[in-house]
Amino acid sequence: MGSREGVPALIRVLNGERLDPPPVWIMRQAGRYLPEYRELRTRAKSFLDFCYSPALATEAVMQPLRRFPLDAAILFSDILVVPDALGRKVWFVEGEGPRLNPLSEEETWRFDDPTRGLQRLAPVYEAVERIKAAIPKDIALIGFCGGPWTVATYMLQGEGGDKERARRVVYDRPADVDVLLETLIEMSAQHLTAQVKAGADCLQIFESWSEGLPPAQFQQLIIGPTRKLMNRLRDLGVTVPIIGFPRGSGAQLGAYADETGVTALGIDTQTPADFAIQAAPSGMPLQGNLDPLALVVGGEALERAARDVLQAFKDAPHIFNLGHGITPQATPENMARLIQVVKGGV
Ligand code: CP3
Repeated sequence: MGSREGVPALIRVLNGERLDPPPVWIMRQAGRYLPEYRELRTRAKSFLDFCYSPALATEAVMQPLRRFPLDAAILFSDILVVPDALGRKVWFVEGEGPRLNPLSEEETWRFDDPTRGLQRLAPVYEAVERIKAAIPKDIALIGFCGGPWTVATYMLQGEGGDKERARRVVYDRPADVDVLLETLIEMSAQHLTAQVKAGADCLQIFESWSEGLPPAQFQQLIIGPTRKLMNRLRDLGVTVPIIGFPRGSGAQLGAYADETGVTALGIDTQTPADFAIQAAPSGMPLQGNLDPLALVVGGEALERAARDVLQAFKDAPHIFNLGHGITPQATPENMARLIQVVKGGV
Protein backbone atom coordinates (compact mmCIF):
# COMPACT_ATOMS: atom_id res chain seq x y z
CA MET A 1 0.00 0.00 0.00
CA GLY A 2 1.29 3.46 -0.86
CA SER A 3 2.31 5.98 1.74
CA ARG A 4 1.54 9.67 2.09
CA GLU A 5 4.42 11.93 3.09
CA GLY A 6 6.40 8.78 3.88
CA VAL A 7 4.10 7.79 6.74
CA PRO A 8 3.33 4.04 6.66
CA ALA A 9 -0.38 3.16 6.37
CA LEU A 10 -0.26 1.35 9.71
CA ILE A 11 0.95 4.48 11.48
CA ARG A 12 -1.65 6.64 9.74
CA VAL A 13 -4.40 4.38 11.09
CA LEU A 14 -2.79 4.35 14.53
CA ASN A 15 -2.97 8.15 14.32
CA GLY A 16 -6.73 7.84 13.83
CA GLU A 17 -7.20 7.83 10.03
CA ARG A 18 -9.59 5.41 8.35
CA LEU A 19 -8.09 3.79 5.25
CA ASP A 20 -9.81 1.66 2.63
CA PRO A 21 -8.40 -0.94 2.24
CA PRO A 22 -7.07 -1.10 5.81
CA PRO A 23 -3.41 -1.87 6.46
CA VAL A 24 -2.79 -5.53 7.23
CA TRP A 25 -0.28 -7.58 9.17
CA ILE A 26 -0.68 -10.97 10.81
CA MET A 27 0.29 -11.91 14.36
CA ARG A 28 3.13 -14.49 14.15
CA GLN A 29 3.49 -13.76 10.44
CA ALA A 30 7.04 -15.11 10.69
CA GLY A 31 6.72 -18.70 11.80
CA ARG A 32 6.29 -22.38 11.29
CA TYR A 33 3.57 -22.24 8.60
CA LEU A 34 6.42 -21.08 6.29
CA PRO A 35 8.75 -23.87 5.08
CA GLU A 36 11.60 -21.37 4.79
CA TYR A 37 11.18 -20.48 8.48
CA ARG A 38 11.31 -24.15 9.47
CA GLU A 39 14.53 -24.47 7.50
CA LEU A 40 16.03 -21.32 9.02
CA ARG A 41 15.06 -22.46 12.52
CA THR A 42 17.32 -25.53 12.20
CA ARG A 43 20.35 -23.22 12.08
CA ALA A 44 20.14 -22.35 15.79
CA LYS A 45 20.44 -24.82 18.62
CA SER A 46 17.62 -23.40 20.69
CA PHE A 47 14.75 -21.03 20.07
CA LEU A 48 16.31 -18.41 22.39
CA ASP A 49 19.62 -18.68 20.52
CA PHE A 50 17.62 -18.02 17.37
CA CYS A 51 16.01 -14.94 18.97
CA TYR A 52 19.43 -13.66 20.10
CA SER A 53 20.95 -13.96 16.64
CA PRO A 54 20.37 -10.61 14.89
CA ALA A 55 21.07 -12.20 11.50
CA LEU A 56 18.61 -15.08 11.95
CA ALA A 57 15.95 -12.85 13.54
CA THR A 58 16.23 -10.37 10.67
CA GLU A 59 15.95 -13.11 8.06
CA ALA A 60 12.85 -14.53 9.82
CA VAL A 61 11.21 -11.09 9.66
CA MET A 62 11.98 -10.70 5.96
CA GLN A 63 10.55 -14.08 4.92
CA PRO A 64 6.82 -13.22 5.05
CA LEU A 65 7.52 -9.75 3.57
CA ARG A 66 9.02 -11.38 0.47
CA ARG A 67 5.93 -13.48 -0.07
CA PHE A 68 3.07 -11.12 0.87
CA PRO A 69 2.41 -7.36 0.50
CA LEU A 70 2.10 -6.77 4.25
CA ASP A 71 1.99 -3.29 5.80
CA ALA A 72 4.07 -4.11 8.85
CA ALA A 73 7.03 -6.11 10.05
CA ILE A 74 7.17 -7.32 13.63
CA LEU A 75 10.42 -7.86 15.46
CA PHE A 76 11.23 -11.57 15.67
CA SER A 77 11.69 -12.30 19.36
CA ASP A 78 9.54 -13.60 22.21
CA ILE A 79 7.80 -12.19 25.26
CA LEU A 80 9.85 -14.59 27.43
CA VAL A 81 13.20 -12.91 26.74
CA VAL A 82 12.28 -10.64 29.66
CA PRO A 83 12.30 -13.41 32.32
CA ASP A 84 15.40 -14.81 30.59
CA ALA A 85 17.08 -11.41 31.04
CA LEU A 86 16.07 -11.50 34.72
CA GLY A 87 18.10 -14.69 35.06
CA ARG A 88 15.22 -17.17 35.10
CA LYS A 89 15.77 -20.37 33.16
CA VAL A 90 13.61 -20.34 30.00
CA TRP A 91 13.49 -23.10 27.39
CA PHE A 92 11.11 -24.31 24.69
CA VAL A 93 9.92 -27.89 24.34
CA GLU A 94 9.30 -28.89 20.73
CA GLY A 95 5.59 -29.23 20.05
CA GLU A 96 4.64 -28.18 23.59
CA GLY A 97 5.77 -24.63 24.22
CA PRO A 98 7.74 -22.64 26.75
CA ARG A 99 8.99 -23.87 30.12
CA LEU A 100 10.44 -21.84 33.00
CA ASN A 101 11.64 -22.74 36.48
CA PRO A 102 8.66 -21.36 38.41
CA LEU A 103 9.36 -18.87 41.19
CA SER A 104 9.31 -20.93 44.39
CA GLU A 105 7.78 -20.01 47.75
CA GLU A 106 11.24 -19.72 49.31
CA GLU A 107 12.93 -17.34 46.91
CA THR A 108 12.28 -13.64 46.75
CA TRP A 109 10.12 -12.30 43.97
CA ARG A 110 11.97 -9.01 44.19
CA PHE A 111 14.64 -8.36 41.58
CA ASP A 112 17.16 -5.75 42.64
CA ASP A 113 18.23 -4.23 39.40
CA PRO A 114 15.86 -4.97 36.53
CA THR A 115 17.69 -2.73 34.10
CA ARG A 116 21.01 -4.58 34.49
CA GLY A 117 19.41 -7.66 32.93
CA LEU A 118 18.67 -5.71 29.80
CA GLN A 119 22.29 -5.93 28.74
CA ARG A 120 21.54 -9.54 27.80
CA LEU A 121 18.98 -8.22 25.33
CA ALA A 122 21.46 -6.14 23.31
CA PRO A 123 21.19 -8.60 20.35
CA VAL A 124 17.45 -7.90 20.22
CA TYR A 125 18.06 -4.19 19.74
CA GLU A 126 20.70 -4.95 17.15
CA ALA A 127 18.09 -7.05 15.32
CA VAL A 128 15.68 -4.08 15.41
CA GLU A 129 18.35 -1.87 13.80
CA ARG A 130 19.05 -4.41 11.09
CA ILE A 131 15.35 -5.00 10.35
CA LYS A 132 14.70 -1.28 10.18
CA ALA A 133 17.50 -0.90 7.64
CA ALA A 134 16.25 -3.86 5.59
CA ILE A 135 12.55 -3.00 5.19
CA PRO A 136 11.01 -0.41 2.84
CA LYS A 137 10.06 2.94 4.39
CA ASP A 138 6.33 2.40 3.95
CA ILE A 139 6.37 -0.79 6.01
CA ALA A 140 6.02 -0.06 9.72
CA LEU A 141 8.23 -1.88 12.21
CA ILE A 142 6.43 -3.11 15.33
CA GLY A 143 8.30 -3.71 18.58
CA PHE A 144 6.64 -5.64 21.41
CA CYS A 145 6.65 -7.10 24.88
CA GLY A 146 4.30 -9.25 26.92
CA GLY A 147 1.92 -7.62 29.34
CA PRO A 148 3.28 -7.66 32.91
CA TRP A 149 0.63 -10.13 34.09
CA THR A 150 1.07 -12.46 31.09
CA VAL A 151 4.83 -12.64 31.68
CA ALA A 152 4.27 -13.02 35.46
CA THR A 153 1.96 -16.00 34.89
CA TYR A 154 4.73 -17.82 33.00
CA MET A 155 7.21 -17.00 35.79
CA LEU A 156 4.81 -18.23 38.48
CA GLN A 157 3.39 -21.22 36.63
CA GLY A 158 6.47 -22.33 34.71
CA GLU A 159 4.48 -23.07 31.55
CA GLY A 160 1.45 -22.13 29.50
CA GLY A 161 -1.95 -23.76 29.70
CA ASP A 162 -3.35 -24.12 33.21
CA LYS A 163 -2.73 -20.96 35.24
CA GLU A 164 -3.97 -22.26 38.57
CA ARG A 165 -0.82 -21.66 40.62
CA ALA A 166 -0.38 -18.19 39.19
CA ARG A 167 -4.03 -17.41 39.90
CA ARG A 168 -3.88 -18.81 43.45
CA VAL A 169 -0.90 -16.73 44.55
CA VAL A 170 -2.82 -13.59 43.64
CA TYR A 171 -5.14 -14.53 46.54
CA ASP A 172 -2.42 -15.91 48.83
CA ARG A 173 0.39 -13.38 48.31
CA PRO A 174 -1.07 -10.29 46.60
CA ALA A 175 1.72 -7.98 47.83
CA ASP A 176 4.43 -10.27 46.43
CA VAL A 177 2.62 -10.45 43.11
CA ASP A 178 2.58 -6.63 43.04
CA VAL A 179 6.35 -6.58 43.68
CA LEU A 180 6.92 -8.98 40.78
CA LEU A 181 4.68 -6.90 38.53
CA GLU A 182 6.64 -3.74 39.45
CA THR A 183 9.85 -5.40 38.23
CA LEU A 184 8.19 -6.49 35.00
CA ILE A 185 6.74 -3.02 34.41
CA GLU A 186 10.18 -1.42 34.73
CA MET A 187 11.90 -4.10 32.62
CA SER A 188 9.23 -3.91 29.94
CA ALA A 189 9.39 -0.11 29.83
CA GLN A 190 13.18 -0.21 29.38
CA HIS A 191 12.92 -3.05 26.85
CA LEU A 192 10.33 -1.22 24.72
CA THR A 193 12.20 2.08 24.96
CA ALA A 194 15.36 0.40 23.66
CA GLN A 195 13.36 -1.06 20.75
CA VAL A 196 12.03 2.39 19.82
CA LYS A 197 15.53 3.88 20.05
CA ALA A 198 16.71 1.12 17.70
CA GLY A 199 14.01 1.93 15.15
CA ALA A 200 10.57 0.53 16.08
CA ASP A 201 7.76 2.75 14.69
CA CYS A 202 5.09 1.51 17.07
CA LEU A 203 4.66 -1.07 19.83
CA GLN A 204 2.31 -3.86 20.84
CA ILE A 205 1.74 -5.14 24.37
CA PHE A 206 0.65 -8.80 24.18
CA GLU A 207 -1.58 -9.42 27.22
CA SER A 208 -2.42 -12.93 26.10
CA TRP A 209 -3.67 -14.07 29.48
CA SER A 210 -6.13 -11.43 30.55
CA GLU A 211 -9.00 -13.91 30.32
CA GLY A 212 -11.00 -15.26 33.23
CA LEU A 213 -10.13 -12.64 35.84
CA PRO A 214 -12.72 -11.24 38.26
CA PRO A 215 -13.06 -7.44 37.84
CA ALA A 216 -11.04 -6.52 40.95
CA GLN A 217 -8.14 -8.69 39.78
CA PHE A 218 -8.48 -7.38 36.24
CA GLN A 219 -7.85 -3.94 37.77
CA GLN A 220 -4.94 -5.14 39.95
CA LEU A 221 -3.21 -7.35 37.37
CA ILE A 222 -4.05 -5.88 33.97
CA ILE A 223 -5.29 -2.29 34.04
CA GLY A 224 -3.08 -0.92 36.85
CA PRO A 225 0.19 -2.44 35.58
CA THR A 226 -0.54 -1.52 31.96
CA ARG A 227 -1.30 2.07 32.95
CA LYS A 228 1.97 2.20 34.93
CA LEU A 229 3.86 0.76 31.97
CA MET A 230 2.30 3.33 29.64
CA ASN A 231 3.11 6.19 32.03
CA ARG A 232 6.68 4.97 32.46
CA LEU A 233 7.12 4.75 28.66
CA ARG A 234 5.87 8.30 28.23
CA ASP A 235 8.27 9.42 31.05
CA LEU A 236 11.12 7.74 29.18
CA GLY A 237 10.27 9.86 26.15
CA VAL A 238 8.51 7.21 24.04
CA THR A 239 5.92 8.92 21.86
CA VAL A 240 5.11 6.19 19.28
CA PRO A 241 1.61 4.65 19.12
CA ILE A 242 1.05 1.61 21.32
CA ILE A 243 -1.41 -1.21 20.62
CA GLY A 244 -2.75 -3.03 23.69
CA PHE A 245 -3.98 -6.56 23.07
CA PRO A 246 -5.83 -7.79 26.16
CA ARG A 247 -6.87 -11.18 24.78
CA GLY A 248 -9.95 -12.63 26.44
CA SER A 249 -10.77 -9.49 28.41
CA GLY A 250 -14.44 -9.76 27.35
CA ALA A 251 -16.69 -7.24 29.07
CA GLN A 252 -13.64 -5.55 30.62
CA LEU A 253 -12.32 -4.42 27.24
CA GLY A 254 -13.88 -0.95 27.62
CA ALA A 255 -12.23 -0.35 30.99
CA TYR A 256 -8.88 -1.41 29.51
CA ALA A 257 -9.35 0.98 26.58
CA ASP A 258 -10.42 3.88 28.81
CA GLU A 259 -8.01 3.52 31.69
CA THR A 260 -4.64 2.26 30.43
CA GLY A 261 -3.64 4.99 27.99
CA VAL A 262 -3.01 2.65 25.04
CA THR A 263 -3.38 4.21 21.58
CA ALA A 264 -5.17 1.30 19.92
CA LEU A 265 -6.84 -1.97 20.81
CA GLY A 266 -6.16 -5.48 19.53
CA ILE A 267 -9.46 -7.36 19.34
CA ASP A 268 -9.58 -11.12 19.90
CA THR A 269 -11.51 -13.57 17.75
CA GLN A 270 -14.55 -13.98 19.97
CA THR A 271 -15.27 -10.27 20.42
CA PRO A 272 -17.94 -8.80 18.10
CA ALA A 273 -16.69 -5.72 16.20
CA ASP A 274 -19.78 -3.77 17.30
CA PHE A 275 -19.01 -4.50 20.92
CA ALA A 276 -15.39 -3.35 20.52
CA ILE A 277 -16.41 -0.16 18.68
CA GLN A 278 -18.91 0.68 21.44
CA ALA A 279 -16.54 -0.26 24.26
CA ALA A 280 -13.57 1.80 23.02
CA PRO A 281 -13.40 5.60 23.18
CA SER A 282 -14.78 7.09 19.96
CA GLY A 283 -12.26 6.92 17.11
CA MET A 284 -9.81 4.57 18.82
CA PRO A 285 -8.03 2.42 16.18
CA LEU A 286 -8.99 -1.26 16.36
CA GLN A 287 -6.95 -4.22 15.16
CA GLY A 288 -8.27 -7.69 14.37
CA ASN A 289 -9.91 -10.12 14.40
CA LEU A 290 -10.17 -12.92 11.83
CA ASP A 291 -10.37 -16.43 13.27
CA PRO A 292 -6.90 -18.04 12.81
CA LEU A 293 -8.70 -21.28 11.87
CA ALA A 294 -10.03 -19.62 8.71
CA LEU A 295 -6.41 -19.55 7.47
CA VAL A 296 -6.21 -23.31 7.96
CA VAL A 297 -9.53 -24.00 6.23
CA GLY A 298 -9.00 -21.62 3.28
CA GLY A 299 -11.24 -21.44 0.21
CA GLU A 300 -14.54 -19.63 0.16
CA ALA A 301 -14.94 -19.91 3.91
CA LEU A 302 -11.74 -17.88 4.38
CA GLU A 303 -12.85 -15.25 1.87
CA ARG A 304 -16.27 -14.91 3.45
CA ALA A 305 -14.79 -14.66 6.96
CA ALA A 306 -12.26 -12.02 5.81
CA ARG A 307 -14.98 -9.93 4.13
CA ASP A 308 -17.11 -10.16 7.26
CA VAL A 309 -14.24 -8.70 9.31
CA LEU A 310 -13.65 -5.90 6.77
CA GLN A 311 -17.35 -5.07 6.79
CA ALA A 312 -17.72 -5.22 10.56
CA PHE A 313 -14.87 -2.74 11.21
CA LYS A 314 -15.46 -0.45 8.22
CA ASP A 315 -16.58 2.52 10.35
CA ALA A 316 -13.54 2.41 12.64
CA PRO A 317 -9.87 3.18 11.99
CA HIS A 318 -9.05 -0.48 11.36
CA ILE A 319 -5.92 -2.59 11.06
CA PHE A 320 -6.68 -5.99 9.57
CA ASN A 321 -5.21 -8.88 11.56
CA LEU A 322 -6.18 -12.18 13.15
CA GLY A 323 -7.79 -12.41 16.57
CA HIS A 324 -4.77 -14.46 17.73
CA GLY A 325 -1.55 -15.76 16.16
CA ILE A 326 -1.42 -17.72 12.91
CA THR A 327 -1.00 -21.45 13.55
CA PRO A 328 1.55 -23.84 12.00
CA GLN A 329 -1.35 -25.60 10.20
CA ALA A 330 -2.16 -22.49 8.14
CA THR A 331 -0.79 -22.55 4.58
CA PRO A 332 1.19 -19.88 2.72
CA GLU A 333 -1.36 -20.21 -0.12
CA ASN A 334 -4.24 -19.33 2.19
CA MET A 335 -2.24 -16.45 3.62
CA ALA A 336 -1.59 -15.11 0.10
CA ARG A 337 -5.29 -15.37 -0.73
CA LEU A 338 -6.25 -13.56 2.47
CA ILE A 339 -3.96 -10.61 1.81
CA GLN A 340 -5.34 -10.40 -1.75
CA VAL A 341 -8.91 -10.27 -0.43
CA VAL A 342 -8.03 -7.58 2.14
CA LYS A 343 -6.22 -5.50 -0.47
CA GLY A 344 -9.31 -5.61 -2.65
CA GLY A 345 -7.71 -7.56 -5.48
CA VAL A 346 -10.74 -9.82 -5.76
O1 CP3 B 1 6.03 -12.96 13.94
C1 CP3 B 1 5.78 -12.60 15.12
O2 CP3 B 1 4.63 -12.41 15.55
C2 CP3 B 1 6.95 -12.20 16.01
C3 CP3 B 1 7.46 -13.14 16.90
C4 CP3 B 1 6.72 -13.60 18.16
C5 CP3 B 1 6.96 -14.88 18.70
N1 CP3 B 1 6.31 -14.96 19.90
C6 CP3 B 1 7.80 -15.91 18.08
C7 CP3 B 1 7.63 -17.31 18.49
C8 CP3 B 1 5.85 -12.93 19.03
C9 CP3 B 1 5.21 -11.55 18.89
C10 CP3 B 1 5.59 -13.80 20.14
C11 CP3 B 1 4.75 -13.44 21.29
C12 CP3 B 1 4.42 -14.46 22.30
N2 CP3 B 1 5.20 -15.48 22.78
C13 CP3 B 1 3.20 -14.49 23.02
C14 CP3 B 1 2.07 -13.51 22.88
C15 CP3 B 1 1.21 -13.81 21.71
C16 CP3 B 1 0.32 -15.02 21.89
O3 CP3 B 1 0.48 -15.94 21.07
O4 CP3 B 1 -0.53 -15.02 22.77
C17 CP3 B 1 3.26 -15.58 23.91
C18 CP3 B 1 2.18 -16.02 24.88
C19 CP3 B 1 4.55 -16.18 23.76
C20 CP3 B 1 5.13 -17.33 24.50
C21 CP3 B 1 5.41 -18.43 23.57
N3 CP3 B 1 6.52 -18.50 22.75
C22 CP3 B 1 4.63 -19.58 23.32
C23 CP3 B 1 3.32 -19.90 24.00
C24 CP3 B 1 5.31 -20.34 22.36
C25 CP3 B 1 4.94 -21.69 21.84
C26 CP3 B 1 3.87 -21.56 20.84
C27 CP3 B 1 4.17 -22.38 19.66
O5 CP3 B 1 3.52 -22.08 18.64
O6 CP3 B 1 5.03 -23.27 19.71
C28 CP3 B 1 6.46 -19.62 21.97
C29 CP3 B 1 7.46 -20.02 20.95
C30 CP3 B 1 7.50 -19.16 19.74
N4 CP3 B 1 7.55 -17.80 19.77
C31 CP3 B 1 7.55 -19.61 18.39
C32 CP3 B 1 7.64 -18.45 17.60
C33 CP3 B 1 7.78 -18.38 16.10
C34 CP3 B 1 7.55 -21.06 17.92
C35 CP3 B 1 8.83 -21.72 18.30
C36 CP3 B 1 9.68 -22.25 17.16
O7 CP3 B 1 9.55 -21.78 16.02
O8 CP3 B 1 10.52 -23.11 17.43
